[in-house]
This record gives sequence, C-alpha cells and structure tokens, in this order.
Amino acid sequence: MAATRNSDFDSPFYQPADKFFPENHGTGLTFDDITLATMYSDILPRDTQLDTRLAKKLQLNIPVISSDMDTVTESRMAIAMALNGGLGLIHYNIPEREQLSEVSRVKNHVHGLIQEPIKVSPDQFIGDVLGMIEHKKFGFSTFPVVDDKGKLVGLLPGHVIKPRYAQRKVTEALQPRAQVQTINVKELGKDPISRADKFFTEHLGIHKLLVVDDKDKLYGLITLSDVERITQERRAQFKPARDERFRLICGAAVSATRNAFGELDRDRILNHVGGLVERGVDVIAVSTAHGHSKGVGDTVKVLRGAFKDLPIIAGNVTSASGVEYLADCGADAIKIGQGPGSICTTRIVAGVGIPQMTALYACSRAAKKKKVSLLSDGGITKSGDIVKALTLSKAVICGGIFAGCNEAPGDVIEISGKFYKQYRGMGSLAAMKAGSAARYGHEKNPAQKVAPEGVEALKEACGSVDRVLAQLIGGIQSGMGYLGAKNLEQLREKARYIRVTAAGMREAAPHDVVELKTGN
Ligand code: XMP
Repeated sequence: MAATRNSDFDSPFYQPADKFFPENHGTGLTFDDITLATMYSDILPRDTQLDTRLAKKLQLNIPVISSDMDTVTESRMAIAMALNGGLGLIHYNIPEREQLSEVSRVKNHVHGLIQEPIKVSPDQFIGDVLGMIEHKKFGFSTFPVVDDKGKLVGLLPGHVIKPRYAQRKVTEALQPRAQVQTINVKELGKDPISRADKFFTEHLGIHKLLVVDDKDKLYGLITLSDVERITQERRAQFKPARDERFRLICGAAVSATRNAFGELDRDRILNHVGGLVERGVDVIAVSTAHGHSKGVGDTVKVLRGAFKDLPIIAGNVTSASGVEYLADCGADAIKIGQGPGSICTTRIVAGVGIPQMTALYACSRAAKKKKVSLLSDGGITKSGDIVKALTLSKAVICGGIFAGCNEAPGDVIEISGKFYKQYRGMGSLAAMKAGSAARYGHEKNPAQKVAPEGVEALKEACGSVDRVLAQLIGGIQSGMGYLGAKNLEQLREKARYIRVTAAGMREAAPHDVVELKTGN
C-alpha cells in the first residue's frame, strides 16, 4: 500500500507543536524562524474551508480581522472585511458617539444600495451638471432629481446631458416623477439584491432603480451593474459574515477607561458598550498593550457581568498566565502579540515582548485548557505568516497589510509618482495625542513626557481590500493543500515544524535571478 501516513523517518525532523516548541523553549521564535513540512494530501486548495468560530456567538467565514487602529478600521474597512467573510474592529481613537455611528454604518449597510446617491436639483442648469461630471470625474450621467426637501421629482437621463443643452434647466429635461420606476424601501425585504435583480429582469432597459420611503423621499439607488457584480460574487466560496438578522457583522474596540481619580470608569464603559450593543455590535475588543493587568481584567469582568452573551475579545498578552487570567475574567477570545507589529517599537522602547510563534504556542496550551480562542495579532507580512499563525490560533489580526487599501481611513498621498497612505502605531505620539494613550497606560496629555511605542509611517497604496484578501486567502488555501488540511482544525492538527537558518530564509525568497515581476 502506498504510504499516506507519516513515516518515522520524518518525525525527528518535522515535529508537532507539543514537541517542537518545548524543545526550543529557550528561544523566542517568530514566523520566519520556522517553516512547515508538507504532508500527504488529497485536498485541493480550492476545496479547503476557512470558517472559524471565535466564540459561541461569533463565527467568521475567513480567519482574518482588521486591526482596531485609526489608520486601518472604520466603517468602510469593516464593511469590506465582513463582505469578504472576515471582521473589522472599529478603533476607539474617535469620540464615543462617532464610534457608535461607525458601527451603525456597518450594521445598516445594504450591499448594493447606494445610500447617498449623487443627485441634482430641478433649478440647476444642464451646464452645471456637465461641469460636476467633469470635475468629479463621474463615470455615469443619469441622476435622480430631488427638491430641497429630498422628495423625488424625477430622473435626469444621460442622453440630455449635452453641451448643446447647457443653458436648459434640469426641470425642462427630466423624466417626470410619474414616469420613474421606483421601489419603496420596505419592499426590498431581507434580500434587496434578489429583489432588485427581479425588478431589472421585469423592466427591460432600466439600469437604475430608485428607492424611496413612504414620503417619496429618495432613500437610495441600486444599479443593474452592481446587482450583476454582486450576484456573481454570491457564487464565491466565502460568504459575507452576517448576524442572524442578515446584517454584516462588526466589532468595536474599547479601552479600560479611567475617571479623573484614576479609577476604572465602570459607568462610562457600561454606557458606551450598552450603546454599541443597541446598535448591533457583534463583538467588543478590550484592546490594550498590556492585557495581563488589573484594568483590563476588571473591564472584561464588568462587561461580562452586564452582557452575558456578548462575545468579548481581550488583550494583548503573550503568556499562558495572561490567557488564563483574561479567560477567568470572562473573555472568549484573546489577542496574542506584544511588539510584533510593523509599526511597533514596544520591544525597543520597553525591552518587552515575545516573538510571535513562541508566544502563540505558550498561550495555546492555556487556551485549550480554558476553552478560549486565540487571535494572532501583528507581524503578518505575507500569507505564509498567516498559515503559520493559524496552526496555533483561530484567526489573525492585521494592520499593515490593510493600511494601504482604499477602504482604510485617510487620503492617498503622492510622493515622486508613487502613491501612499498614512499608517501609524496606536502608541505613536500622534495617535496617543488623538486619544489612544490609555491603551499604552499613559494620560492623554501632550505636555506630559511619554515614550511612544509606535511609529508614524506610510504604506504603499494597494487597491481594494477584496484584492488584498483574495491574495491572502489564496495563500492560506495553498498552505492547507500542502498540509492535507481540509479545514482550520486539521491545519492545527497536521502542522509539523522545523527551524530555518538565515541561509534557509534566503533560499525561501526569490534569489539569484533578476526579478521582472514581484510575486504579489
Ligand atoms: P501589523 O504588523 O499588522 O500590526 O501592522 C498591527 C498590530 O500592532 C499592534 N499595534 C501596536 N503595537 N505599538 C505597538 O507596540 C503601537 O504603536 C501599535 N499600534 C498597533 C496592534 O496589536 C495591531 O493590531
């Protein structure tokens, strides 16, 4: 019979986690210090499943989370992450009420419905509309016409927006309200895309569906091209991550907020998280640099006491005792990572932190005992790192990989013909001044002497989250195929590790060639 099992010849070299890490116990190892051995496989990468359960009431369809950082995750990023099956954690470097609105934006997001469509008013000249199209570089030329109270007056069709009509008013050229096909927002139901799809099939030649409310105010717009794109995406392997009411899932980060006397501000924390829960938040992350601390533990206890079923993430820690502590306080999932982040200087400034793979292993045994999930937070620079992290954790949290995406907050900056976006550590001076000082145990007082634990940096602009995630997911699936792992549980079981040297690392990257195209 052909050998489909591990041979004993391999076992001294390629070891399971419980042998490999204890044998390397004196050395902190990170992603590039190790590599995974291939295993017999009858699994094709495209057939692997990536769903992961982080808490009883929190399941993702892909094991990827965007960091709660002010240059990474606000509603746009969280929407894109959830649409791809992952999760975004809205950062807390904004006023509390703004964080509430950001969560509402995600929870109210209707995929395919443009909720603030570009509209024109009846008194405008066609010439003004032409100017707007030119100035804003719109790729479309049909606009809903609304009066000053937001009521729908008609539709301005693209074929009248011509320079020869520049002096004509919109009101002369519009298709009047009575002739415009609309749908009431209530009729969209639970599955707006299928409803709109049916509408477009029934109404030959109509490409834009206007959505109105009971008062005939314009509520939004659905385009045929979006419906067709989304219908295609629905056949994709990884479905959006949704709650039981079919809304996208969303997380929000909070800190261990203190009052003027330096005590934990229980009322404020409970009030704010209560507001987030009312808006439908699916998970709260108590995010600090030092999670094995009284403030974080007490915050988790307060939240667990008040919200019995709310999934709670807490961190960050890098020790089994930290995991046990936060699990005992009531956390469901624990963030592992101190200093691996691409913008972190904690290890340099404080001399503290553990290389990520060793930290994950040390924590994983406590996680198994306490039945909590681990999230590997920081240091991911390539899909191979994610595969390695997932051998010891349930999901990864990434900042830098997403900070250059269109969906990250902030503008694109052009420098010498290249495009960048700002990315900064939450422990950088600028971020702490903007509010995140509590995360690093400092007061939000610029006059005070504080040691920043993060840098302000730039990331090359890298397009949409969809594109970046497609690359990452492809890499994860490929890794699972090599290990013969059908799902993430099997990946954790089948992982066999070996250390690599600097020469081995050099061998792993393209070498001795003139690279024409990079791998990504
Ligand atoms: P990556 O490598 O994905 O890391 O860019 C993102 C993670 O880094 C953590 N983080 C920080 N750590 N100083 C630190 O030591 C900082 O200023 C800082 N800001 C973020 C955080 O865990 C994030 O998810």
